Amino acid sequence: MNKIKKNRQRIAFISTHGYVAANPPLGAPDTGGQVVFVLELAKKLGQAGFYVDLWTRQFEDQEQEEAVAENVRILRVPCGGEKFIPKEYLYKFIPEWVQNAVKFIRKNKLAYNFINSHYWDAGLAGDLLSTELSITHLHTPHSLGIWKKDQMEADYSEDSGSFDRKYNFSVRIRKEREIYNNCSCVIATTPLQFEKLNRDYDIPESKLVMIPPGYDDNRFYEVGAQSREMIRKKLGFEGKVIYTVSRLAANKGLDLLIHGFSILAEREKTARLVLAVGHENRNAGEEALYRELENLRKSYGLEDRISFTGYISDDDLPDYYRASDVFVLPSRYEPFGMTVIEAMACGTPTVITIHGGLYKIFEFGFHTMFTDPFDKEDLGITLLKTLRYPSLRKRLKHKAAQLVRSTFTWTGIAQQLINTAEFRGSESLFLHVRRDD
Ligand code: F6P
Repeated sequence: MNKIKKNRQRIAFISTHGYVAANPPLGAPDTGGQVVFVLELAKKLGQAGFYVDLWTRQFEDQEQEEAVAENVRILRVPCGGEKFIPKEYLYKFIPEWVQNAVKFIRKNKLAYNFINSHYWDAGLAGDLLSTELSITHLHTPHSLGIWKKDQMEADYSEDSGSFDRKYNFSVRIRKEREIYNNCSCVIATTPLQFEKLNRDYDIPESKLVMIPPGYDDNRFYEVGAQSREMIRKKLGFEGKVIYTVSRLAANKGLDLLIHGFSILAEREKTARLVLAVGHENRNAGEEALYRELENLRKSYGLEDRISFTGYISDDDLPDYYRASDVFVLPSRYEPFGMTVIEAMACGTPTVITIHGGLYKIFEFGFHTMFTDPFDKEDLGITLLKTLRYPSLRKRLKHKAAQLVRSTFTWTGIAQQLINTAEFRGSESLFLHVRRDD
């Protein structure tokens, strides 16, 4: 990245929904893996000498500008008033957001080498901005409307009549097609997404690249047996602990996990389940789901073996993975599943469902264990086997850690993004520099 470093290039990331902040409240509405993805990638590019402006929406009492790390800042511009707006409906206000962003860019004489937008709301913003300012636009969808719609209709057919109102699929898919067609390149984060972009959205392979999300290897790594014991004591972990961390959302399969745990709980008396779900300021939907999970736990009489922790701070997160005996991702639908990569990097065996974006990356019984997200017996027994057999545990632990270290570190991912931008950029790419440089 040296040639580029000298010129102090400036990159615009756009991620408009949720709470984007230097320390984001993960688990808050619409605030999950994507914001981690964007922040980590921005920080790596910042370390490599690029300036990165992470553009988002300003609402509630947020500051206009926030420093994140060396060379990286968040820039917030308003649209649609001061209240939180769910990601499904933010698109209506994106033209207003773009007008405000353009004003700021012109006033501050900012020049960007390329835009990388994230998810379809920001994709619309990227599309409009790139036209207005003639900048290369790379778009990362993170999740695909067609895929989510198909999955939900297959899994909850009885409710399918309400989906379009709730998730705005028709508008989303129409806009996604526009964005994918107009941008310079679409970045899939998993092989399955690559295939679906090609097959369901008719995006030619030549316009697609696959760049997976990464993890921070300075934070997520394995510790020795003694340190692990100390961590377990500190966290109050006893017995064989199955752990998950998740937003409180129906697609996350947390109910399935409790059903599945009830099956293994009968057979493995020392097993415990720890769910780090959501945050303390739950909205009505999240609260209803939380109560449902509590009731489920009660119905099985497992109050002493299943615990809910609230939000886990970024500092504590690696220790929770290290202290657990199995990390599980029970999602019925999951665009990626970054938490699995983090758990693997911490040396923890994992169980994941076959409807996730990671399914095609790993090998069953070698890197992880697969389970059907609609079959509680399958989940329960798969978890049981992963807890029980030392040779299996050892293999999962080592092979997965090896694979994620070689494939998913942010440094490698940042390099791939820069290569893609250079390859897809107009002739002037990397020639725009800040006026005061
Ligand atoms: O909004 C939270 C979030 O997890 C994003 O980080 C991510 O890109 C998106 O949800 C996925 O949304 P969908 O529900 O459309 O798959």
